[in-house]
Amino acid sequence: MNIGFKKFGCTDGEAAIISLFEDRLQTPNSDVNTILEYAKNKGSFLGKFGEIYNFVRTIDGKTQDMVLVGLGKEETIDGEKIRRAIGKALKRAAELKNKKVFMRLIDTDKVELNLVVKAMVEGAGLSSYKFNKYKSEKNDDKDQKEFEFSLGSPNIDDIKALDVDKFIEEAKVLVETTILARDLVNEPANTIYPETLAEEAVKAGVKYGFETEVLEKEQICDLKMDAFLSVARGSKKKPRLIVMRYFGDNQNKNNILGLVGKGLTYDSGGYSLKPNDGMVTMKSDMGGAAAVIGAISAISKLKLKINVIAVVAACENMVSGKAYKPGDIIGSMAGKTIEVLNTDAEGRLTLADAVTYIIRKENVTEVIDLATLTGAALVALGTTTTAVVTNKDSFYEELVKASKVSGEKVWQLPAFDDYKKMIKSDIADLKNIGGRNAGTITAGLFIGEFVEDKPWLHLDIAGTAWTDAADDYSIKGGTGAGVRTLYELAKARA
Ligand code: BES
Ligand code: MN
Ligand code: ZN
Repeated sequence: MNIGFKKFGCTDGEAAIISLFEDRLQTPNSDVNTILEYAKNKGSFLGKFGEIYNFVRTIDGKTQDMVLVGLGKEETIDGEKIRRAIGKALKRAAELKNKKVFMRLIDTDKVELNLVVKAMVEGAGLSSYKFNKYKSEKNDDKDQKEFEFSLGSPNIDDIKALDVDKFIEEAKVLVETTILARDLVNEPANTIYPETLAEEAVKAGVKYGFETEVLEKEQICDLKMDAFLSVARGSKKKPRLIVMRYFGDNQNKNNILGLVGKGLTYDSGGYSLKPNDGMVTMKSDMGGAAAVIGAISAISKLKLKINVIAVVAACENMVSGKAYKPGDIIGSMAGKTIEVLNTDAEGRLTLADAVTYIIRKENVTEVIDLATLTGAALVALGTTTTAVVTNKDSFYEELVKASKVSGEKVWQLPAFDDYKKMIKSDIADLKNIGGRNAGTITAGLFIGEFVEDKPWLHLDIAGTAWTDAADDYSIKGGTGAGVRTLYELAKARA
């Protein structure tokens, strides 16, 4: 993504995006104001949130598309509204075949300048994302990869002094790493499997500045990760344990934030086989892995003063003569035994061992896991909100603060002891399903059985990591959910 900050003015062949508040429907340009008057009187553009209006303007012999977008009432503005409005306006500018887009910096004192700049760049960068590398025909969509944005303001000199370039740089990295996560999710399971996911993590490490260690099957066996290996056993593709380390705070070497991402590069359900409809999107079952790879990339690139280790237990859940079966009793790295009642509840098994590994071998002091874990999360909260289970409310409050900056919504579910009883087995220590009720909670609490005494947050991103319909700044497919929120949480600590 190409983006710079420059003086706002008319340049031939560039579309201009002007965001306007409903209660402040005017610009410094009298000709534009005349058009605004006209549109307002006709009722075709009132500045209501999400409204779009476009026209062509010629000034000093130069012609450009003007795209107006409504922000609603100024007192209701926030970062997420800015992202959405800019995303929508940019999609219109793209429909009008523009490749260079000029955005006028939103002028408001209701949101801090750094957040305005970040939200504008994120909205623009994320809304122009495409996944079309597998299309043979060169088409319009493909061209839009070369989008060039600039953010501008007529009073550039006052604003320049305020570090706008730094905010733009930060947002650019967040866009790039969110797109990395989207790409990883959108790649099909025949190109992204444990080995290639590990290769992508290594590449990201080299590019963004973190260290990656990849453990192969023999080493995973030596660690006695029996739960992880049981899930992996049915596939021809060998599992990988991907460990990513970033030490940005050497004075506090013993303080390490642990991130764990579910890395099922494909989930067929195993012997508890999914119906086709449920299986077609299961290349996305490594959305948690994509999120932690994206997040540690952003954290490293922006050199946050914090220590972070991210772990992904990558494997495929498949059917074969070697696969684990409903009724099996398996072990785990922590030593707990697990009765497998459903092979489709596989994510929690891989995560249990990944969590034990990151606590015992990497010595992290806190754990956040992200997982496309349960269909029940979609039933409970839909596709807009990530479900959270925790053993420490103050840790959750930190997440809420980060989510307010990123605009990614989270909601806490209860974790009462009553729910913990639901995953106790008659013949083993635990069972891997808790029945139909409270599925997202019992799945989370299963992982919670392995966090020992560590503060822990579990984010079930089953609803938020993937979308079937394009939205203001996303398209159908992987959303990159979690990357920006994890970054903001780390930044607030650094
Ligand atoms: N990966 C799925 C969860 C999922 C479902 C993610 C839909 C995204 C969209 C997970 O491994 C799974 O299959 N969960 C089961 C658990 C059940 C067997 C207790 C589910 O939710 O049905
Ligand atoms: Mn499953
Ligand atoms: Zn799964």
